[in-house]
Formats: sequence, structure tokens, C-alpha cells
Amino acid sequence: MTRKPIFAANWKMNKGASETEDFAKAILPKVQHHTFPCDIVIAPPFTSIPKAAELLGNVSSVALAAQNCSQFDSGAYTGEVSPMMLKEFFVHYVILGHSERRAIYGESDEFINAKVLKALEVNLRPIFCIGETLEEREAGKLEEVLRRQVTVGLKDVSEEGLGDVVIAYEPVWAIGTGVTATAEQAQEAHAFVRSLIAEQFGGEAAAKIRIQYGGSVKPGNARELMACPDIDGALIGGAALEPASFLEIIENGTA
Ligand code: 13P
Repeated sequence: MTRKPIFAANWKMNKGASETEDFAKAILPKVQHHTFPCDIVIAPPFTSIPKAAELLGNVSSVALAAQNCSQFDSGAYTGEVSPMMLKEFFVHYVILGHSERRAIYGESDEFINAKVLKALEVNLRPIFCIGETLEEREAGKLEEVLRRQVTVGLKDVSEEGLGDVVIAYEPVWAIGTGVTATAEQAQEAHAFVRSLIAEQFGGEAAAKIRIQYGGSVKPGNARELMACPDIDGALIGGAALEPASFLEIIENGTA
């Protein structure tokens, strides 16, 4: 089974519209009229999405993602943005369940599940994030945590729907810390996550689903991580804020 790798830039709460314009203009000559052996995704903050859509919306090698969405279509939900609103701006993916949303905003597995189901209902592809904290890993709870996150987060997803889901394994202790999981640690967790998908959805679905690694991915470690058999791309924070380093990760990771 060959899975097309997927490299996604999660800008988090960085880059307003004018910085988004600078980034887009810097990568345009490199991505326009080029075909890549991978999918490339950029996830700006909500308010920068229209600018990203204007400049990159018709560049076929790049897709846009949002960093969150509501579990509802519309209505009295102050401060929320619905999946359909995102689709008006060429947004094809949405990051859901990022550890920062789990930890800072208290998003539960059930809540994330509702968002995953809503996104799939309108053909927005979830980049569904999971991962353990250092305390959980040190307490020997890695598998228990991943099992709960996957089982509850993907509950009631159809096998067809799962085809639109990308999983991002992001060990919390590796996010923004400069401490990357070793290729061995990452591969072990990815293989376990794939086995959970096999249990829940069957072997064929497990063989097809793409599982990205996230957590201090840099140009210097991308190649080794991406060489692991169960790692199918990366979700990149800090190192995706600079066009050159994002492109270098893609280049090294697909070499
Ligand atoms: P860093 O690449 O900055 O560690 O962030 C990873 C991440 O959280 C991507 O979603």
C-alpha cells in the first residue's frame, strides 16, 4: 500500500493577512506549476484564510486548512466558524483536536468527535490530532491514551468517511520544545495507532489511512522520521512559519 505523504503547516496564532501574503508570494514560484510526490497543506488563522485563498486557492499543489471549526452548521454560537463557511474560501482540511485546544480550551474526545462528524458531513477533511503528555508516557499510559483518543474521537465515522481523515500523532512533549520523538518512538506509536484503526475499521482502512507525525519537525530531522514505514508526512508548527524551512522539510521528507 503506497500512501501519498501529506505535509501541513500549522501556523497556530501567527501571521495576519499581510504576513500571509508575504509567505504566499515567497512560495508561489516554487509551488506553482510544480507537481509534488506529496500533498501540501497550509493552515492559517481564520482571518488570514481569505488572503491565502486569494493567492493560493487555485494553485493545485497546495490546499488550505483551518485550525478548528464548529460542530454546528449555523446559529447562536458566538465566536464560532462553521465548516460550510470555511468551504467558501477553498478550505479542504480542518485541524481538529490539536493538543493546544485539548489542554487550553478543554476540548474533550466527545466534543472533538462531534466536530469530526460535522466536518465529514460537509466534505471537509479532518486532520485529527492525538498524542500523549510526558506524564502519561512516563506513567506507561501511552497506549491507553491513544486508544481512548482514537476510539472516541472517530466514533461513528463511516469507513468511507475515514478515507477523508488524516491522523496527526503529536506527542505533547515534543510540540514546540525542540525535543523530537526519536524515529523509533514515533514509528512505534504510529504502528500502534494503525493497529487501532485496523481494530475499529478493518485492515484495508488501516493500510490506507495517512498518519502524520508532529512535534519539533525540522529540515534536519524530516528525512529520518519520514523514512519510517508508518509515518506518512508531518504536521509542522514553528518550522513552517518560514517559507524556506517549510519547503526544505518537504524536500527532505520526500527525498
Ligand atoms: P512544532 O513543530 O512547533 O513543535 O509544533 C507542532 C504542532 O503542534 C503542529 O500542529
